Amino acid sequence: MRIDVLTLFPSMFEGQMTEGMLWKARDRGLIDMRTHNIRDWTTDPHRTVDDTPYGGGGGMIMKPDIVARALEAVLNDAPAQTGSRTPVLLMTPQGRLFNHQIAVELSAHERMVILCGRYEGIDDRVRELLVTDEISIGDYVLTGGELPAMVIIDAVIRHIPGVLGAEGAAGRDSHAEGILEGAHYTRPAEFRGLVVPDVLQGGDHAAVERWRHEDGLRRTWRNRPELLRTAPLSDADRRLLAKFAREDAARARSNRDKRG
Ligand code: ADE
Repeated sequence: MRIDVLTLFPSMFEGQMTEGMLWKARDRGLIDMRTHNIRDWTTDPHRTVDDTPYGGGGGMIMKPDIVARALEAVLNDAPAQTGSRTPVLLMTPQGRLFNHQIAVELSAHERMVILCGRYEGIDDRVRELLVTDEISIGDYVLTGGELPAMVIIDAVIRHIPGVLGAEGAAGRDSHAEGILEGAHYTRPAEFRGLVVPDVLQGGDHAAVERWRHEDGLRRTWRNRPELLRTAPLSDADRRLLAKFAREDAARARSNRDKRG
């Protein structure tokens, strides 16, 4: 996959590009990631990228001519892709909320282009003319789109075949099956009085899978119950959820009794 990032701060991506998973994926030729400094498309001596907003108000707005010129140059820099249109993603707190499903969908493209805004934002005509998708990573406002872009790149490339080793396949991730993953442990078998569950120490793979599934379901019940509304649940899962509910009710009763 080719990934182009347009930003005023390309150096922010150096760590991501030279460490860990992304570095290995680039080394193996699976990812061609390039950053582009939007300021390189300015034409005035001060290399101005922003201006005051029409209608007043605080903050500065990134100029449409500069950003559009940068985007078009980057888009035209590689031959047209086969099949679907190249996603041009604008990082914005007003976008649709990023999730596992969007990461998987994006990973199927041969190319994606990510536009990072700074200041109060980018003149809205760039969005209208050139952006295919507006993405937010959460309901909070960051000072720019660079951190969201890194989050998206990390989440997307894990789904490209060969990027993770077979042992780290993304299909088992939390969220891949609609619920969270079960707990993980390594040696020692006992740590500060806490013991790794027996079933994980034995060699019964089917029992291990069952334990992991149940533990993942329990974590989802405890931490992200809203996911259970859309997760594909078996009859056995529903019985487990009823059991968790009974356990919670019993615990609440016992806490009430202890308080007197
Ligand atoms: N830019 C600023 N805040 C953002 C957010 N939450 N998601 C995506 N881009 C942003």
